[in-house]
Amino acid sequence: MDLLDGIYTRRSIRYFTDEPVDKDHLIEMIKAGTWAPSGLNNQPWRFVIINDRAMLIKLSSLTKYKRIIEESRSCIAVYVDKKAMYNDVKDHQAIGACIQNMLLAAHALGLGSVWLGEILNKSDSVNSLLDISDEMGLMAVIAIGHPADRKATSKRRDISEVILKEI
Ligand SMILES: Cc1cc2nc3c(=O)[nH]c(=O)nc-3n(C[C@H](O)[C@H](O)[C@H](O)COP(=O)(O)O)c2cc1C
Repeated sequence: MDLLDGIYTRRSIRYFTDEPVDKDHLIEMIKAGTWAPSGLNNQPWRFVIINDRAMLIKLSSLTKYKRIIEESRSCIAVYVDKKAMYNDVKDHQAIGACIQNMLLAAHALGLGSVWLGEILNKSDSVNSLLDISDEMGLMAVIAIGHPADRKATSKRRDISEVILKEI
């Protein structure tokens, strides 16, 4: 897949088939995430892979997007390691770049995925459930699966609306 094509055709996928996701594909997504840029190359990202169905169901109860997690085959919780951080804004920017790389990798592998942020309202409960220390700050949960046959659409502001000026 051409890189620009991948960027333009990736969509948030919220409906999945029952087909499990290959472990190799999950690792590939994480590997792509770790090739994101980070300030001072400090690589502050950490990951938890969740495949266990009972655990996915428990995780799903912590967000109003319950159905998406229930229907997904795997999730990856993305964390920032607070001990590895050196600058709030820059470390969070790095995590955003990491997550975008992961979504694009999923797309390139023929998987569907969606970045779930609402679940951050229950970060403490997610950490308890996954038995992860408070030194790890939850940044997102990515729900992953094989896309069900539904057309996902999205739109963007016209480019002329977002360019403030050209000098
Ligand atoms: C920080 C962030 C948080 C998000 N949280 C959620 C969420 O909790 N639930 C959800 O269904 N989608 C969530 N999304 C996905 C957005 O709704 C989606 O990216 C946006 O509508 C554009 O659609 P597209 O990804 O298909 O281009 C989130 C995206 C970002 C970047």
